[in-house]
Amino acid sequence: MSNVQDGERVQGTEPKNTRHKIGIVAGDGIGNDVVAEGLKVIAATGVETELVHYDLGGERYLRDETILPDSVLEEWRALDALYFGAVGAPGVPPGVIERGLLLKMRFELDLYVNLRPFRLPEQNIDMFVVRENTEGTYAGEGGFLRKGTPYEVATQGSVNTRKGVERCIRFACELAQSRPARHLTLVHKTNVLTFAGDLWERSFNEVVSEYSELETAYNHVDAACIYFVENPQRYDVIVTDNLFGDILTDLGGAVSGGIGKAASANLNPDRTGPSMFEPVHGSAPDIAGQGIADPTAAILSAAMMLDFLGESEAAAAIQLACDSPEVANALNATTIETTAVGDAIAEAVKPPF
Ligand code: IPM
Ligand code: MN
Repeated sequence: MSNVQDGERVQGTEPKNTRHKIGIVAGDGIGNDVVAEGLKVIAATGVETELVHYDLGGERYLRDETILPDSVLEEWRALDALYFGAVGAPGVPPGVIERGLLLKMRFELDLYVNLRPFRLPEQNIDMFVVRENTEGTYAGEGGFLRKGTPYEVATQGSVNTRKGVERCIRFACELAQSRPARHLTLVHKTNVLTFAGDLWERSFNEVVSEYSELETAYNHVDAACIYFVENPQRYDVIVTDNLFGDILTDLGGAVSGGIGKAASANLNPDRTGPSMFEPVHGSAPDIAGQGIADPTAAILSAAMMLDFLGESEAAAAIQLACDSPEVANALNATTIETTAVGDAIAEAVKPPF
């Protein structure tokens, strides 16, 4: 029994009585393998959850053409979080699942920040990319003219709203402010994208002027690609638009231990609905069902989810467990065994924290 007075909270002494309601989409391919390990590790932390499983993704689409019914979306609005493995299957036309499920969810739930950490302690890499997640070329502006004729035209515009850009930059400022280095880099292509780039640059300069302790920088996206490869240690927090962020974060994964380690959070920072957590990698049909996918990215995404749900001790414990020698051992096997890595991380997570 706790003798803590009503309304008071003493860290670590008060029993947690919040049960988090989480929607699970294991999805396709290795999504199933890695989500199982993520759930195993969450269970090992002792954090209480109520899981609701949804059968969605490429395979489901191929079966009955279901993508993301509005009724499901409405159910999701009442959840605390969403946890995804990976969606996408061979035979599904491009865009069906991407636009119909992932982007629809990002737009409808206003998941306007895509937060992607990259950490490789042995190489002193420790950075976050804050990717704008609802606008830019992803917004869906454009179309065809005279499609199928020799004169056909396709446009795909980049949509950048002052509000959308500003809220994303503000999130990045708050994140940078909370970190020891307090450094924030804007990545764009202002020398060519003189409309969108100008809006981003002006918004950036105005918002960062409210954060006097931040040191700031600007890199063109092509130069940032060189720095990511040659000197990623220079970065702390990066903020960038949707498409640049998509490309840069695959590169970030590649230079900081591989895409199998890259976690991601699609956040609704205003908490008007659930946020969504998933590894950056795809469903990798070529290795699906073989039990050889690295579940680290999915497990670290689960840690980001717990952190966002207020379970910061459990989240930190997972992060620490991933750095343990036992886990390094499991990852150094000639062929990674998905369940062995999950077991090692679950074993290294030791409540109470
Ligand atoms: C990602 C993915 C998605 C994106 C696709 C699958 C829609 O590549 O999360 O990075 O482009 O955002
Ligand atoms: Mn991507």
